Amino acid sequence: MKHAVIGAIAAITLGTAAEAQQNVVVGHSLSPTSHYGVGAQAFIDTLTDLSGGAFTGEQAPAGQLGGERDMIEGLQIGSMDVVITSTGPLGNFVPEIYALDLPFLFRDYDHARKVLDGEIGQELLDKIGENNLVGLAWTENGFRHVTNSQRAVRTPADLDGLKLRTMENKVHMAAFQGMGAAPTPMAFPELFTAMQQGVVDGQENPVTVITAAKFWEVQKYVSLTGHVYSPAVVLASPALYDGLTDEQKSWFQQAAKASAAASRAEVNRLEEAGIALMRENGMEVITDIDKAPFAELAEKSSYSVYTDQYGTEMIDRIKAVE
Ligand code: PAF
Repeated sequence: MKHAVIGAIAAITLGTAAEAQQNVVVGHSLSPTSHYGVGAQAFIDTLTDLSGGAFTGEQAPAGQLGGERDMIEGLQIGSMDVVITSTGPLGNFVPEIYALDLPFLFRDYDHARKVLDGEIGQELLDKIGENNLVGLAWTENGFRHVTNSQRAVRTPADLDGLKLRTMENKVHMAAFQGMGAAPTPMAFPELFTAMQQGVVDGQENPVTVITAAKFWEVQKYVSLTGHVYSPAVVLASPALYDGLTDEQKSWFQQAAKASAAASRAEVNRLEEAGIALMRENGMEVITDIDKAPFAELAEKSSYSVYTDQYGTEMIDRIKAVE
């Protein structure tokens, strides 16, 4: 509620809340130098510039204010201002979003970015807006890959019985159950210790996250399964956003777009540089993976989590985007 306190003090001095200087806290789960950190800073810098300093900002990085699920709840009750989060826990609040979490749905980065920047992305941001949250812009986490401490994973049989942390996302859990692993949902702030202590054998995340979190300290193997694209979104609290003028709202929207562009540029850079970085830090990077058997099992076990409720229309529309 920092913005509210500062806003209240400034409002006394300046007269109206619209004129008051507000400090916006941007929460996320990774380090300030990660792709989320770079995106958060771009948000803050753009908002400060556009508003001529009427809004300032600061990052609350590395899950300081809780895991992604906690931060989303914080937005709903007004204790958080702005959050950059993966869609991992978002389906618990906006079930239509599960469509984006389906494994082996997006062909590549171009496909995913086109879908999210187009009509479908806007429709889903609007859905978010119907659930006591404000969806400002789609940003990105990246294609997720499996890491573990036990063995090189090349086929679904290699996943057999592997205790694998997943996000708190029922599509992902169903997918990994289908592929043979033992999925264990867990908030990200607990993950490093859980791997260190052997509570789980592995996890799955994009190169961006594996490198930002230095998972090589507790994981030996990374298999480039690319089993699911992990979108991220810049969310704001209705408690903050609904009180803004139209001009201020447009600053927030532009800041969120700048944030997405900065994060995506960092994802692009790390997709290249990250593989070398993981190898330099002692990880065995497994690249010769036939994705077809993983896809067959994952689709069979997880698509119905979404289609039982919403049918296949959205999936067909996403696949049709060229
Ligand atoms: O694994 C997760 O929970 C997410 O990918 C992360 C690292 C919090 C980034 O959104």
